[in-house]
Amino acid sequence: MSEKLLTPEIGSVLVTGGAGFIGSTVVDMLLSQGYKTTVLDNFSNGRREFVSHHSDDPNFKLVEGDILDESLVKELVQDADLVWHLAANTDIIGGHDQPRRDLRDCVMGTFNVVDAIRVTGPRPLLFSSTGAVYGQLCVDISVNEGSGPLLPVSTYAAGKIGSEAFISAFCNLYGIRAWIFRFGNVIGSRMTHGVIYDFVHRLKQDPSRLLIRGDGRQEKNYFLVEECIDGMGYAFKNIAMTDDQPCDIFNLGTSSVTRVVELAQIVKEEMGLPDAELVIEGTKKAWPGDQPRVHIDVDKMTNLGWKAKLSSDQAVRIAVKRLLTEV
Ligand SMILES: NC(=O)c1ccc[n+]([C@@H]2O[C@H](COP(=O)([O-])OP(=O)(O)OC[C@H]3O[C@@H](n4cnc5c(N)ncnc54)[C@H](O)[C@@H]3O)[C@@H](O)[C@H]2O)c1
Repeated sequence: MSEKLLTPEIGSVLVTGGAGFIGSTVVDMLLSQGYKTTVLDNFSNGRREFVSHHSDDPNFKLVEGDILDESLVKELVQDADLVWHLAANTDIIGGHDQPRRDLRDCVMGTFNVVDAIRVTGPRPLLFSSTGAVYGQLCVDISVNEGSGPLLPVSTYAAGKIGSEAFISAFCNLYGIRAWIFRFGNVIGSRMTHGVIYDFVHRLKQDPSRLLIRGDGRQEKNYFLVEECIDGMGYAFKNIAMTDDQPCDIFNLGTSSVTRVVELAQIVKEEMGLPDAELVIEGTKKAWPGDQPRVHIDVDKMTNLGWKAKLSSDQAVRIAVKRLLTEV
């Protein structure tokens, strides 16, 4: 049996956003190791088919509901030894037209989750933040957890910073312990958005050409969802929080990056479309709120003993292959 994902005293886990891309993979891993696992998801982006294969597992419970529902969240947190909080609005582009979604589903939702932990008694919290919090800082330099000022360029990133702030305050005030992870681009099976997803779908529609939004010079780090979950579990098990430092932040990803044109090339190769023309749109940014180049420094996790096994390019190729079996 593979090494346990969490520490021995954890038997039951509440996964918010557990029917989403990352969340449903967390759920697969938890249930495969015998954890009692409850999913809370409002299905705004999650999919039933991502978790329905667990419906006969007595350790699995699916609750359709909202993290804004105070009494429901309290009731579910009460039954969990650990809260794995992943629910958020993940439509970063859509945040431009509906900025209140990031306030509601991220900041207020996270507030509600940590407040439920406050009321029901301290229990550990794992939180998915994002490298997007670094805004323009990560375009030219590789940013570490101490880099700042954090000046977000999207409401999505603003929502994550607000969430981090409430988590930190609640940890310091109420004895809660939290591990906050600023992810790079997480990829793999069940992706429902992102550049790989877009490229594969665009080439399916028109195999002769692929439009690359932005200036074609974008480069970001990509890593597989199972590596992301493994990194979160590693930090929880091996990096203890204390009264003096009840929460901490970890960049999680790879140190390598993949340029968007190389990514498009990998998609073309894997789809058997070597002649598809790459058309660069030529705009400065792919969309309002985009961060064209994201370089995150993952030395902190590396020095603490964990690093992603695959390079960004290797992860991209695997994720493309997986996606092609799903579409
Ligand atoms: N995928 C990435 O590359 C990436 C990068 C950085 C951070 N993250 C973060 O990781 C987490 C998971 O992301 P994902 O890629 O799996 O996205 P996802 O959209 O597949 O998962 C989010 C889930 O949360 C649910 N949800 C949203 N609002 C909710 C609410 N108010 N109440 C209950 N459920 C709600 C959605 O239905 C969905 O199932 C998110 O917090 C996201 O911001 C993801």
